[in-house]
Amino acid sequence: MPDRLPRDKGEGKSHIGFMGLLQKVAPMPPAHQLEEEIERLKKERNAVVLAHYYQESDIQDLADHVGDSLGLARAAQKTTADVIVFAGVHFMAEVAKILNPERIVVLPDLEAGCSLADGCPPEAFRRFLDQHPGHYVVSYINCSAAVKAMSDVICTSSNAVRIVQQIPKDQPIIFAPDKHLGRYVIKQTGRDMVLWQGTCIVHETFSEKKIIELMLRNPGAELIAHPECEETVLRHAKFIGSTTALLKYAVSSPVQTLIVATEEGILHAMRRDAPQKTLIPAPPEDESCACNQCPHMRRNTLEKLYLCLRDLSPRLELDEALRIRAKKPIDRMMEMSTGV
Ligand code: 13P
Ligand code: SF4
Repeated sequence: MPDRLPRDKGEGKSHIGFMGLLQKVAPMPPAHQLEEEIERLKKERNAVVLAHYYQESDIQDLADHVGDSLGLARAAQKTTADVIVFAGVHFMAEVAKILNPERIVVLPDLEAGCSLADGCPPEAFRRFLDQHPGHYVVSYINCSAAVKAMSDVICTSSNAVRIVQQIPKDQPIIFAPDKHLGRYVIKQTGRDMVLWQGTCIVHETFSEKKIIELMLRNPGAELIAHPECEETVLRHAKFIGSTTALLKYAVSSPVQTLIVATEEGILHAMRRDAPQKTLIPAPPEDESCACNQCPHMRRNTLEKLYLCLRDLSPRLELDEALRIRAKKPIDRMMEMSTGV
């Protein structure tokens, strides 16, 4: 592995080296050459680009794998590349690093956070756990490594129901940090869980009233929704699932018009894979804002993707003891979600 770390020809020690330093001060290529330069750097660095469906379409088109949180974690687990470029948010790149301590993991913008992860600080979470002794802790992957390290198992929106169903019936459960996903899982499994009261700023933006109006104007249209949405929205949905599940449903559904209640980025893949369908983004309460775009995901741009490949920075680095503790519940998730 160390022999394959990205090195520029003609030097042996640094990962960036003299050529890298020259590149560092080289001007940004013009916009029309960026994609070509990114492809060139991908080969030179032996890098893989993993992108979430909520990334802007140009980034999705350049990625080697586009997926939901579980799909991307699995892609990160399988990769043999020297460098993982994670076009997503911080907690996703952190998972890639937890699974790949020996590989370089970079993300275009280190500040790309998540309202769920940011709304669950480790110290407050520790106090919350102390108030509920004896509970099995299921944490949504949208949380920090420190919160993962305090959890028994991690889940994503694809496997949360499946994982909770496997926990012994008499075992009290804490579910964190998304209360909407938690409530959805309670409904699906019949399990009573203590919920951390976190929310996603994007998925709680959709307006039930406006969705109903839209459905009335489009008779026959079906609402499909991500489980991070509020119950008032989910109750009108014909299908509820992760971004990958929503995409598969949009492709296979015989219905012509679908109203899509999740981050708008997914529509790029839906329009490509289901070109004959009419796909309408679900309206947010305030239609003058771009509230159905995640401001954290959208911090990543093609320019920043180019720069992080060129400079191999910013990098995800993790304390080894924390990484080992955070990996255990992720491994457990992988074991408990075979077939999902
Ligand atoms: P999935 O990737 O599981 O669909 O979750 C969506 C999300 O909000 C990621 O931050
Ligand atoms: Fe977090 Fe919501 Fe953005 Fe996903 S869409 S990264 S849950 S803020």
